[in-house]
Amino acid sequence: MIGDTLRNNFSALGSNESSHHRAHLYSVEVDQMHAQRARKIVSLAGLDDWITIIESFDCEDAIERIKELEHRNTSSDLSYIDFLFIDHDKDLYTSDLQLIEREGLLKKGSIVVADNVLWAYITNYIDYVQLKAKKGVVETKTVECPVEYSENEIGELGFERLKDGIEITTYLSNP
Ligand SMILES: C[S@@+](CC[C@H](N)C(=O)[O-])C[C@H]1O[C@@H](n2cnc3c(N)ncnc32)[C@H](O)[C@@H]1O
Repeated sequence: MIGDTLRNNFSALGSNESSHHRAHLYSVEVDQMHAQRARKIVSLAGLDDWITIIESFDCEDAIERIKELEHRNTSSDLSYIDFLFIDHDKDLYTSDLQLIEREGLLKKGSIVVADNVLWAYITNYIDYVQLKAKKGVVETKTVECPVEYSENEIGELGFERLKDGIEITTYLSNP
């Protein structure tokens, strides 16, 4: 079911583009066991052709490997990232985003979503994208939401819902 939905959405994305620009999702994971589990889920969903799990702890290394894979699979160079979801080491959000910008992989129209920015107090990241917004390079907003699963804990264990937020940033021009 999830596989069908994702496959249809990927197909829809791909059909808006020229035939040589097909959507592909790369997920970077440092932990070998997490990566293996993710690959199993991707396979069960029948999405091996659409999603690749890369084992790496270093953003620069991950970018190089994604570029190589893109070149091998599509015979063209990776030009930019449409959608970037950041949800790894909270100390690396800003520096990894800056690295991806320097690589020229974020362009007008690219969307970046960063998870846990309020719960983990990732203020340097929020400050960075808000400064870019002041300069007119991006539009950005912090959307408040509870930490995942913490809602269930109110009833069962009496915990308070944990406040969190995601930062949604859209590039209005090339950074
Ligand atoms: C909060 S979990 C991600 C959860 C996932 N986005 C989801 O919604 O199910 C964070 C993951 O980032 C991985 N991670 C931590 N530091 C990393 C790094 N420098 N590079 C790649 N992955 C990293 C962890 O092993 C962990 O699996």
